[in-house]
Amino acid sequence: MKVLMFNGSPRENGCTNAALKIIADQLKKEGIESKIICVGNREISGVGAGGDDAFIKEIASQIKDYDGFVFGSPVYYASPNGTMISFLDRLFATCKDFALKPACCVVSCRRGGATASVDVLNKYPMFYNMPLISSNYWNMVHGNSPKEVLKDEEGVQTMELLGRNMAYFLKCIKCGKENNLFPPEIPNKIKTNYIR
Ligand SMILES: Cc1cc2nc3c(=O)[nH]c(=O)nc-3n(C[C@H](O)[C@H](O)[C@H](O)COP(=O)(O)O)c2cc1C
Repeated sequence: MKVLMFNGSPRENGCTNAALKIIADQLKKEGIESKIICVGNREISGVGAGGDDAFIKEIASQIKDYDGFVFGSPVYYASPNGTMISFLDRLFATCKDFALKPACCVVSCRRGGATASVDVLNKYPMFYNMPLISSNYWNMVHGNSPKEVLKDEEGVQTMELLGRNMAYFLKCIKCGKENNLFPPEIPNKIKTNYIR
C-alpha cells in the first residue's frame, strides 16, 4: 500500500513538509510506503488560465497507483496558499481516479486561519467520494520553521495519530477487498444547476 502526499508550500523543506514527514514516519512504522511531492515551488495557474499542463497530467497519471492521499498546505491569509488551490483545482478537474480512496488535509500556520484552511482543503476530497481521515484535533501544526513545528507537541501528536489512523483505514479497505467487500458503484452525477 502506498500513500501520496502533496506539499503546497514553496518551501520544500519547511513547516508543511515537517508535518507530512511526521505522518510518513507513522505510515512507515505500519509498513506503508509514502512519497511527498512539492507542488508549491512550481508555477501553476488556475483552471482555464493556460500554462503548462504536463505536470498536472503527469501527477494525474500516478493517482491510480496510490491507495491514500495527504494534501498539505501552509496558511496564507487564513486560506491554503494560492499555488495549492490552483494545483487542486486543476488536478481534481482532470483526474477521476481518487474515488473511495482515503484522504486527509493538513495545514501549517504561524497563528491563525488553520481551521478555515483545513475546511477549504477538505472540500476537494469530499466532492470526489473520498473518505476523510481525522485525528484527535483539527489537522494543523503551528510554527514558522520546521524546528518550531516539532516543538508544537499537540500538533505533532495530531499528525502522528493521523498517520496511524490513515494506516488503519487503508488496512481495513485492503482486508475488505480480500474478503470480497467492494465499494459501491458510483452513479453518473446529476447536475441540476438549481434549474428544473
Ligand atoms: C504570504 C504569507 C501569508 C501568511 N499568512 C498567514 C496567516 O494568515 N496566518 C498564519 O498563522 N500564518 C500565516 N503565514 C505564515 C505561514 O503560514 C507559516 O509560517 C507556515 O508554517 C509556513 O509553512 P511552510 O514552511 O510549509 O511554507 C503566512 C506566510 C506567508 C508567506
